[in-house]
Amino acid sequence: MLVSGKQILDHAHEHGYAVGAFNVNNMEIVQAIIEAAEETKSPVILQASQGGLKYAGVEYIAEMSKIAARNSSVPVAIHLDHGTDFKQIMLCLRHGFTSVMIDASKHPLDENIKITKDIVDIAHAVGVSVEAELGKIGGTEDDITVDEREATFTDPDEAERFVKETGLDSLAIAVGTAHGPYKGEPKLDFDRIKVIKERLDMPLVLHGSSGVPEQSIKKAVSLGINKINIDTNIRQAFNRAVRKFVSENPDVYDPRKIVGPARDEMRKVIAEKMVMFNSAGNAWK
Ligand code: G3H
Ligand code: 13P
Ligand code: ZN
Repeated sequence: MLVSGKQILDHAHEHGYAVGAFNVNNMEIVQAIIEAAEETKSPVILQASQGGLKYAGVEYIAEMSKIAARNSSVPVAIHLDHGTDFKQIMLCLRHGFTSVMIDASKHPLDENIKITKDIVDIAHAVGVSVEAELGKIGGTEDDITVDEREATFTDPDEAERFVKETGLDSLAIAVGTAHGPYKGEPKLDFDRIKVIKERLDMPLVLHGSSGVPEQSIKKAVSLGINKINIDTNIRQAFNRAVRKFVSENPDVYDPRKIVGPARDEMRKVIAEKMVMFNSAGNAWK
């Protein structure tokens, strides 16, 4: 069933677990995510990045996701990931997304507040929830020192002001994760998660979560993370399965035979995450 992002995240916040938000770029990924959610009885968020929308087209992503959500017995939200463009956010609202992220985190605080609040006002008017980012969640490839990275972490005082002045529904925080494959082990600032959760008492979002060790994920969830974004691990699963199949079956040219095993591999990886995040068994009717 299709639900708003707010319904899903408020439930997770109330019951102390995290919902997986998995990036969709094609039909097989959508199906893998929904199958994993059904299998584990988990609420789930299908999210598309601006790159994903450009690749597949907003209509394809929206319609595929809505079909998947409507045919599913578990709660499903459809979310725009890292939206930075006003017109594109409006297009997502028009096409039935039930949640959007406005990412104005590269701007100074006052400007981030202004841009975010404008989107919150519009999205809330049509019943769509909003995630926004404070602090900067970079890429693993960013060549910066530990001190420089820490300087980009979310400040609890600023977070309090940001939430109060924008009215957003969930907050993406920078606490040591980064987008893409990690070279070493990411070190999360757990104290910061704890402080921000105590001060805000609202759903918090962890980006760049592929490759974060299980124990760190579990600790972050126990401290109040309620949405966990995964993209890279899905891409890796897809790649692993396609490469394996093609190398073992060089004469097969039917795309369904090549991509089908990748869908299964992605489903397995996603289902494991749902158990790890403690969302398994939390779907409601
Ligand atoms: O946050 C980043 C996501 O992994 C999306 O990546 O912009 O390449 O689709 P993308
Ligand atoms: P990863 O690709 O590192 O899992 O990050 C996903 C993400 O944060 C999408 O917004
Ligand atoms: Zn992200």
